Amino acid sequence: MSPELFSHRLIFVTGKGGVGKTTVALALGLAAAAAGRRTIVADIQGSGEQQEAELAPGLFRLSVDPQSAMDEYLLVKVPGPAAQLLRQSRLFAAFAMATPGMRELLCMGKLWELAQFERRTPDADAYDLVVVDAPASGHGAAILRTPRTFADIAQVGPIAHQAQTIAATLRDPEFTAVVAVSTAEEMPVNETLELRDALATGPDPLELQAVILNARYPDRFTTAQASAIAAALARTPAPADGVRSALSVALTEHARARREAAQAQRLSAAFGPRLLTLPYLFEPAIELPQLRRLAAELSP
Ligand SMILES: Nc1ncnc2c1ncn2[C@@H]1O[C@H](COP(=O)(O)OP(=O)(O)OP(=O)(O)O)[C@@H](O)[C@H]1O
Ligand SMILES: [Mg+2]
Repeated sequence: MSPELFSHRLIFVTGKGGVGKTTVALALGLAAAAAGRRTIVADIQGSGEQQEAELAPGLFRLSVDPQSAMDEYLLVKVPGPAAQLLRQSRLFAAFAMATPGMRELLCMGKLWELAQFERRTPDADAYDLVVVDAPASGHGAAILRTPRTFADIAQVGPIAHQAQTIAATLRDPEFTAVVAVSTAEEMPVNETLELRDALATGPDPLELQAVILNARYPDRFTTAQASAIAAALARTPAPADGVRSALSVALTEHARARREAAQAQRLSAAFGPRLLTLPYLFEPAIELPQLRRLAAELSP
């Protein structure tokens, strides 16, 4: 991974559902922390850690949800009893949350706050880098646009001002980077190309800083070897079940590797040196040791 990526303050990791966004966000976080950057990986599902929790030395994790982002915003921005009243007002909460895009704006506001050297939240330490485990591509691109949209609609007032500030940092390519995760399959590759195009259009165009091809299958056999395996399978009598199934597995894996090669080629043609590949890990679960292996491949 080019060291330049880790010099950003905010890295958005997005991609099709299930391609490995969470895995890659954590691996990037580990790589950045290992390179000495105090890093937090934040997701916007609001289902994980509600407090900033340390996962590994220099690597923290947080789940951002709109409700607590709003509570915190009111606490910091609105003085005294008024905030208390607003926070307790279910009508106000219901109204705010029903405003289209408000949830996204609140989440973006919190992510932006995390990325400030001067944290708005009292007693909070600063991070060098915030890695966002963002929602799947379509929604991921939309959430990046929310502050700009709000700024354009509201124009004046505290929300517009806040949204303008956030939008300005998002369109600053030194501050914010967007990374797409894909697997070497047709639909995820299509979605990655669509994401690139969606980000490039509109008033604040963004570029994909890197594309990570995750979970690439090993390509173990040449075409000649695969033919030899197929021939051996045809010669092997049915009673030798173990041998037959081992040969079939090898052929299936070979077929998959070849299908993946064609899709990897599409990504490579589109992104050239910005494309990085992570291997498929044949492990029962991806936990810290496995994440460290992936992080080693992403290290600057
Ligand atoms: N390189 C890899 N090798 C093997 N398994 C992997 C790899 N990367 C991810 N996985 C596994 O694939 C599954 C999906 O990964 P992950 O949860 O990171 O995807 P996601 O894009 O965040 O999904 P969602 O869209 O649901 O949030 C998980 O079980 C994860 O452990
Ligand atoms: Mg995920």
